[in-house]
Amino acid sequence: MNQTMKGKVVLITGANSGIGKEAVSQLAGLGASVIMACRSKERGEQACQEVLQRFPEADLKVMTVDLSSQASIYNLADQVNTYYRRLDVLIHNAANFDLSLKEPALTGDGVETIFATNHIAPFLLTRLLLDLLKASVPSRIITVSSKGLMVYPTLDIDFENLNGERRYSAQRAYYHSKLAQIMFTYDLAERLAGTGVTANCIQVTNVAVPDERLPQLPGWLKKMYALKRSISITPARMAETYTYLASDPAVGQISGNLWDENNRQIKSNRNSYNRETWNKLWLASEKMLISRDSLNDRWETK
Ligand SMILES: NC(=O)c1ccc[n+]([C@@H]2O[C@H](COP(=O)([O-])OP(=O)(O)OC[C@H]3O[C@@H](n4cnc5c(N)ncnc54)[C@H](OP(=O)(O)O)[C@@H]3O)[C@@H](O)[C@H]2O)c1
Repeated sequence: MNQTMKGKVVLITGANSGIGKEAVSQLAGLGASVIMACRSKERGEQACQEVLQRFPEADLKVMTVDLSSQASIYNLADQVNTYYRRLDVLIHNAANFDLSLKEPALTGDGVETIFATNHIAPFLLTRLLLDLLKASVPSRIITVSSKGLMVYPTLDIDFENLNGERRYSAQRAYYHSKLAQIMFTYDLAERLAGTGVTANCIQVTNVAVPDERLPQLPGWLKKMYALKRSISITPARMAETYTYLASDPAVGQISGNLWDENNRQIKSNRNSYNRETWNKLWLASEKMLISRDSLNDRWETK
């Protein structure tokens, strides 16, 4: 085992499959302690065992979280803040890309599920773990977007339609949430300038998603994914960029950038650089947060 991340703690969401699981393997292989934040305890433990087969000395901890639930995100953050004295890298890898959704499905917090999982969750989890990240500087926050956004060069944040109340397509909702991730990252990087905490976003390219990850999809979409696999890179290859941004000293000071699978800094669409939109998105995201007090009330009334 390489020791270059020895003593560093990394939290990665969606750690039980695909790119997330490969990133766990690579970072554990560098000696990092990795918190695997997974929706299912069982799938998380299974993935953990697979990584341990490769790196028996790996320091891994599975924690459960449903990122579409703010109460669950509070619970994860409480556990991390209680049991860990440091957090060096926070990787927001998990995402909902259930393209079979025909209508907006609201979470228990009243937010459209894809926006809640892919944008509000990273927004809230970052906020709840920021003190720990600041106590561990130099530290890094990594968000994940998608190369598919190139198909939407004029896409912007649709503030009148954050919950899909005016029109809805799951595909558009997904790319909308991924554009929000880019803007959130740029904004966060500026807000954190000078603190020693960096924020960067990865533009994930076509990465093979196996059929067993897509049980809910209709046949025609499965065929599309099969076609996509023929032009995809492997999750392990994509995870190399996660590992690079999480560990390489060369990028330790760089913040507020979008990166491709070849570890190159790239540009996003023009709208994504609008600071007014960043600020409006920040405020709109804050409005979608449920206060801890009201969550406590909700638990108590259950
Ligand atoms: N694959 C691609 O071609 C591609 C392209 C562009 C961007 N991306 C991005 O790359 C990232 C990783 O995707 P992947 O390809 O590795 O897909 P994946 O294997 O399906 O991984 C997605 C992960 O997110 C987790 N997740 C989804 N909803 C969750 C929730 N509510 N709470 C907690 N965890 C949740 C999943 O957990 P479960 O096992 O419980 O479902 C899974 O671990 C995502 O951000 C995705 O948007 C992928």
